[in-house]
Amino acid sequence: DIEGFAFDMDGVLADTARFHAIAWHQIADEVGTVWDDELAEALKGIDRMGSLKLILEHGNVAEKYDAAARDALATKKNDNYRNLIATLTPADALPGMLDFLESLQTAGYKMSIASASKNAPFIVERLGMQKYFDAIVDPASLSAGKPDPAIFIAAAAAIELAPEKVIGLEDSAAGIKSINAAGELSIGIGDSKVLHEADLNFATTADVTLARIKATLD
Ligand code: G6P
Ligand code: MG
Repeated sequence: DIEGFAFDMDGVLADTARFHAIAWHQIADEVGTVWDDELAEALKGIDRMGSLKLILEHGNVAEKYDAAARDALATKKNDNYRNLIATLTPADALPGMLDFLESLQTAGYKMSIASASKNAPFIVERLGMQKYFDAIVDPASLSAGKPDPAIFIAAAAAIELAPEKVIGLEDSAAGIKSINAAGELSIGIGDSKVLHEADLNFATTADVTLARIKATLD
């Protein structure tokens, strides 16, 4: 039986994927990488330095940027991103998510956050969602980012559950791979072609309800 839920944050709880895209698009322009929707999709779930590496490789300019230059670009991206998320309020929770969290808490499920973002504690607080979560995994403590299973394994451990007792929710292909490899049931939110490896798929966050999840599990 399922006893807990591990949530991705960007694109699942918060409408922040667009802010990451805006801030990375600026960096892509600066280094001469052509920005497109496919690149934006590929960056979802990928940690900060990994995202920068993909942008540099995509533009065939990786060899032009050493470690110090990469740090400077990543810092610039994060400064711009922080300006964009500074104004977040509970109204920026994705549709239906506050109700979903409330229903899970009422039903007694344990909940944790499995986000690659170092900004997760700040965003969760801005959205007024701290009260729902027993733990937020610190991505800096992990050996590898998504699609590696480490983060979703840590998210289950943080709420003292075996992975098979946990459902993971994700909007990225890398995240679904991480959930599956961790041995949890995966729910993909978004395009079912992009998230085809998910055990269950919902087109939007507004479609995700405990009743629907239970109905598909029975
Ligand atoms: C999430 C987002 C990624 C982002 C990563 C790191 O996984 O989906 O787009 O790169 O977090 O976020 P951070 O806030 O630490 O730069
Ligand atoms: Mg995400």
